[in-house]
Amino acid sequence: MSLYGLLINFHTEIYAMKLLFLGDIVGKPGLQAVKKNLPEIKEDHELDLVVANAENVDNGSGLTPAQFDTLLESGVNVVTMGDHISRCFSIEPVLTSSDQIVRPANFPAKANGRDWVVFDNGAVKLAVISLLGRTFMRPVDCPFLAADRVLGEIADQADVILVDFHAEATADKQMMGRYLDGRVTAVLGTHTHVPTADSTILPGGTAFQCDVGMCGPYDSILGRNTRQVLKHTLTSKPTRYHVARGDVRLSGAVIDVNKKWEVKSIKRFEKKIEDA
Ligand SMILES: [Fe+2]
Ligand SMILES: [Fe+2]
Repeated sequence: MSLYGLLINFHTEIYAMKLLFLGDIVGKPGLQAVKKNLPEIKEDHELDLVVANAENVDNGSGLTPAQFDTLLESGVNVVTMGDHISRCFSIEPVLTSSDQIVRPANFPAKANGRDWVVFDNGAVKLAVISLLGRTFMRPVDCPFLAADRVLGEIADQADVILVDFHAEATADKQMMGRYLDGRVTAVLGTHTHVPTADSTILPGGTAFQCDVGMCGPYDSILGRNTRQVLKHTLTSKPTRYHVARGDVRLSGAVIDVNKKWEVKSIKRFEKKIEDA
């Protein structure tokens, strides 16, 4: 191979569209950690795009328009949600008007929001899809059939496709990964708030991780005050769950994609926030 060929090949290999996907952002600690740290993280990791799940921002459930704006101002390009999407009524008009937030594609057809969005940063067109699982969760349409429908609609409008599969059961998540393997760039799980140590590139080339974890206080029960959750569990007395405070971390996955839009790597991302 000529030196020129080598350089072209080298460029193709190293030129990375690097994407960070952040898991469920929980409460003020999570939002503040994103706001304070994301600009520097984007620079340090040379990130081109950031997608974040924001279903738990508003006191642990939902997202307000102001909080959505804060995320975009902090450098998040596309926001995904989950089963807590409708906790704040005020977000409903945003779901309809903004092309930087998606609702689960297997929600009822009449629900507000978009089944998928494409974010174009000038160098890459990123499609983002959100799907909800059905095991131990509210009844929704089949996520597998919804994925087929949405991928048919997206067709060739995107270079890379990220699926946030917001589900409880690891087996469901593995099935979705295998079902979409080779058809999308990444299937990344959210909802359990606990990061799994299974990030991998599946045989067909799709990056996969059962759950990327949450952005929020890990000294907690899934982001909520441990004492309050235990009290309610042990007594069944009405108890308010507040968002916890300690051991704030940002958790997610970094996907590296080459110029041919092939996944080169998936790495778990975790940053402990010292001054939270
Ligand atoms: Fe959830
Ligand atoms: Fe969540």
